[in-house]
Amino acid sequence: MAKDPKVISICNSKGGVGKSVVTMMVATAIAEQKNKKVLILDCDSQASVLAMYEQEVEYYPDDTPLIEVEALSPRRVNTFLKRFGGDYDVIFIDIPRMTDKKADNPTVMLLYNCDGILVPVIGSGVDAIATQEFLEIIEECKTYKAEMEENFVCHGFINRRNLRKSNEETETELRQAGLKMFSTSLSDLRIFTTPSVFQSPLATAEGLRRFEPFYKEFCRKFKL
Ligand SMILES: Nc1ncnc2c1ncn2[C@@H]1O[C@H](COP(=O)(O)OP(=O)(O)O)[C@@H](O)[C@H]1O
Ligand SMILES: [Mg+2]
Repeated sequence: MAKDPKVISICNSKGGVGKSVVTMMVATAIAEQKNKKVLILDCDSQASVLAMYEQEVEYYPDDTPLIEVEALSPRRVNTFLKRFGGDYDVIFIDIPRMTDKKADNPTVMLLYNCDGILVPVIGSGVDAIATQEFLEIIEECKTYKAEMEENFVCHGFINRRNLRKSNEETETELRQAGLKMFSTSLSDLRIFTTPSVFQSPLATAEGLRRFEPFYKEFCRKFKL
């Protein structure tokens, strides 16, 4: 029988924190560097990952993308994973911004399919508060996973470390709230404005310098 894929979500209840773009970058790097079959399930009704993917594929019709992307409503993810999960080594779930945090919300339920969650955080007071609310959802997920005796790891990282002071304050606050923070972070990266599904971010000088340390920590923490 096919092996279960590793299911990971880079998520936060907030929008605009880099969930989709970091997912694409990490997914392509893993596919290329580790020769793994990687899928992104785009569960955001705005389908930003799918849109970027399709635009690129249209642009370079003769090339083969490093990853696959599939748009799927949150309600259908469970069935999809049961049926097709075994075809992949790693599946990323890109989730939409959450407006309704009730535990029965299908978006929240997506997290229960994950073996690992990485929470991007922008260093500001507002983001720290929103992330702390999100951590309550993750706590429930952790409890469920423990009851089911399923593996589950959760970490956070600071995205776009630029305003040093607020980043450090946010990081300290979240650590105190129980979120294990990555020792690496991501700065404001030029390569992130044009994510490609044909090229690993590590194929660029900026990617090697500023993305690779984060990528390596990602692979260590999520055992890839
Ligand atoms: N580290 C970064 N460097 C440069 N731009 C970034 C970075 N992280 C996110 N962005 C940009 O911020 C915007 C929002 O990111 P996105 O991944 O769409 O957020 P989300 O999925 O959380 O709503 C995008 O235009 C993206 O390219
Ligand atoms: Mg998004």
